[in-house]
Amino acid sequence: MEAGARLDLDALDLQRVLHPNTNLAALHRGGPLVLVRGKGVHVYDNGGKQYIEAMAGLWCTTLGYGDDELARTAYEQIKKLSFAHLFTGKSHEPAILLADKLVGMAPFAASRVFFGNSGSDANDTQIKLVWYYNNALGRPKKKKIIARTKGYHGTTLASAGLTGLPSFHKLFDVPLPPFLHTDAPYYYRGAQPGESEAQYAARLAANLEQLIEREGPETVAAFIAEPLMGVGGVLLPPRGYFPKIQAVLEKHDVLLIDDEVITGFGRTGELWGAQAFGMRPHTLTAAKALSSAYLPISAVIVPEFLYAPMIEASGEVGLFGHGFTYSGHPAAAAVALRALAIYEERKLYEHVREIAPQFQERLAALAAHPLVGDTRGVGLVGACELVANKSTKAAFDAKLAVGARCMAFCQEHGLIVRAIGDSIAICPPFIVTSAHVDEIFAKLARGLDDTLAWAKREKLT
Ligand SMILES: Cc1ncc(COP(=O)(O)O)c(C=O)c1O
Repeated sequence: MEAGARLDLDALDLQRVLHPNTNLAALHRGGPLVLVRGKGVHVYDNGGKQYIEAMAGLWCTTLGYGDDELARTAYEQIKKLSFAHLFTGKSHEPAILLADKLVGMAPFAASRVFFGNSGSDANDTQIKLVWYYNNALGRPKKKKIIARTKGYHGTTLASAGLTGLPSFHKLFDVPLPPFLHTDAPYYYRGAQPGESEAQYAARLAANLEQLIEREGPETVAAFIAEPLMGVGGVLLPPRGYFPKIQAVLEKHDVLLIDDEVITGFGRTGELWGAQAFGMRPHTLTAAKALSSAYLPISAVIVPEFLYAPMIEASGEVGLFGHGFTYSGHPAAAAVALRALAIYEERKLYEHVREIAPQFQERLAALAAHPLVGDTRGVGLVGACELVANKSTKAAFDAKLAVGARCMAFCQEHGLIVRAIGDSIAICPPFIVTSAHVDEIFAKLARGLDDTLAWAKREKLT
């Protein structure tokens, strides 16, 4: 680049960045959205345009952008002790205090916390802990993990196999053999005509039981589930789903791993998604809101019964041979501790509960729009699903990328949402005000109207 020329970040991005989770062909046609700063619920692109971030980044920036207290906490911890690790019995205060805090918050009788850097690696850890545990108990055949179609648990080689979305498998040669999938809880599209939510939930539980019996219960170690599916399209479980699923798991001695990467720390209006949906997990994965995404950190919270057999086993092997250089990184742990304190000090759990009814009413009202076939949500998360025909529920041809088109129209209006196929997801920071909620839905309505006008021009509806 010539000296003095304005740096063309868009062009350089297209030349140099290999984008994660991106339709690379579409990116090369449309170009990136380059952000340069953020404050509160707003972010700004390299042209100075302001957006309201109604997806909290990737369902994660719960405290919004540019929080002084979190920035100061990171700075102070880096000055005090920029790095320390947890290998070979070493430790440090932020990790110890954060582990203790999380054990106290867990929705089950937890005893310990393993730290990672992302939701994906935390779910890999979940798999490895379950395998280590079953090997330590002398049950080497009990290894299969059941996840669900449309579930999302990450993209590492193992966690991508738990994920139940085709684009995370195709061309990557995953899932690896020990991972199986059962039905997504997708009432809008999965239920049979006239089937109640309770009947649908019972059918899904019966299908799960058939799968476990077909595989042999002695080979099935665990079932992993998000309380609500985020990346799968914001799919809420039908009424009574988890109690029915849990009865099957208990019968066959299968552990329940709760993936709270999106739902943890108040997103649903309850501290944990498990509490919102009657889930009684054995272990739990947390990330994202754990640090409000100010620094990367994830946590696997486990009960003592899972940890205890590992003590002797690791003594025999010579090591509990699992961990990352940055497991429990002191700056990330200190920021997470502060974020958890801020949720309480600024009464954000209460705030989410107070503002959720307005958010959910505005979301439900979108059902009147000619393009919207379904709306669904809880707390401060939701989605509307766009359809070609509301009465038949006929979907648009996926190749038309109608959802992506709607997302782009919203972006023109200064609103960031996420298209998941033709479902438009919304998951704003917890710090949104009532005025922000109104602004989000007013802009989304304009985006939907633009999409409808375009669809009519193209004779798609
Ligand atoms: C439920 C769930 N689990 C796991 C992950 C993976 O987390 P990460 O992207 O930090 O690896 C995500 C990411 O969105 C998620 O939503």
